[in-house]
Amino acid sequence: MMLGKGNLIKNKHTNMELEEYKMKLLGKDRLREVIDLQQHVYDNLPNKDVLYMDSYEDMLSDMEDGARVIGVLNSKDKIIAYRYIGFPGRDERNMGYDIGMQPEQMDKVVHLETTVVDSKYRGNDLQNLTLVAAKKMVVQEGYQHFICTVSPHNFFSLYNIMKNGLKIKALKRKYGSTEKGDDGLWRFILHSDMEKQILNPVDLVISKWANLEMQRDLIERGYIGYELHKDSQQLNYVKFEEAKI
Ligand SMILES: CC(C)(COP(=O)(O)OP(=O)(O)OC[C@H]1O[C@@H](n2cnc3c(N)ncnc32)[C@H](O)[C@@H]1OP(=O)(O)O)[C@@H](O)C(=O)NCCC(=O)NCCS
Repeated sequence: MMLGKGNLIKNKHTNMELEEYKMKLLGKDRLREVIDLQQHVYDNLPNKDVLYMDSYEDMLSDMEDGARVIGVLNSKDKIIAYRYIGFPGRDERNMGYDIGMQPEQMDKVVHLETTVVDSKYRGNDLQNLTLVAAKKMVVQEGYQHFICTVSPHNFFSLYNIMKNGLKIKALKRKYGSTEKGDDGLWRFILHSDMEKQILNPVDLVISKWANLEMQRDLIERGYIGYELHKDSQQLNYVKFEEAKI
C-alpha cells in the first residue's frame, strides 16, 4: 500500500543529493532488510541506550498479529527509514496500563514502536512524515490513542514526537527482564488522544529537558510534559484540572 512520495536530500550536511522517495507499507518479505537497517543504525549510535532493538522473530510474530511497518524507500528501492506500529489490544504489554488508561480504551491503542532513519537521510523530517502517515491510516480505522516510549537522552526523537501532540505521562524503566535481573532502560511514556478533549490548565512549570529528577517529581505530582522547545531545550510541564485518560 502506497502512503506517499516526494523528494528528499541525501547527505544533507556534506555533498547534498536530491533523490526521490516512496513511502509504503512493507510486507514480511522485507523484514530482513528492516532488521539490517536497524542493526546498521544501532552500530553507529553514540549512545546505544536510546534504541531498544527489536528481534526479527518478535517483529515477525507481531506482524502476523497485525503490526505494520511503514517503510521509506529511496530511488533504488532500498529501505532508508521505517516506522513500526503495533496494536497491543488487551495484551499486558499495552502501555495504556503504564499510564492508568481506562480498560475500555485499550482496544483503541496504537503503539508507536521503533523508528529508524539511515544517517545519510536524516534531516528530511522522516520521523515526523511517517508518524503523520501512520496517524492518517489508523484514525480511519477507529484507533484513538497513540502511545510510545522515548529515551530521556534522545532529544531529536522526543522533539519530533512531542511536535505531533504526544504528551509525557510517565517516566519509568522499560524493557527489563526480572529473570535476567535487568532493570531495563529509562523511558518517557508519551500519549496522545486523537479525539482529545480540551482540559483546563491550572499550573505550569518549566523544566530543563535533561533535569530528570525534577520531571519525575512533577509527573508524580500529576503534571504532564506538554511542550518541548527546540532552541532552549525547555520542557513545559502542565497540571490540568482533570487529568483522566
Ligand atoms: C530520531 C531519528 C529517527 C530522527 O531522524 P529524522 O526524522 O531524520 O530527524 P529530523 O528530520 O527531525 O532532523 C532534524 C535535525 O536534527 C538532526 N538529527 C536528527 N537525528 C539526529 C541524530 N540522531 N544525531 C544528530 N543529529 C540528528 C538532523 O540532521 C536535522 O538537522 P538539520 O535540520 O540541521 O539538518 C534519527 O535520528 C534516528 O534514526 N535515530 C536513531 C534511532 C532512534 O533513536 N530512533 C528513535 C527511537 S525508536
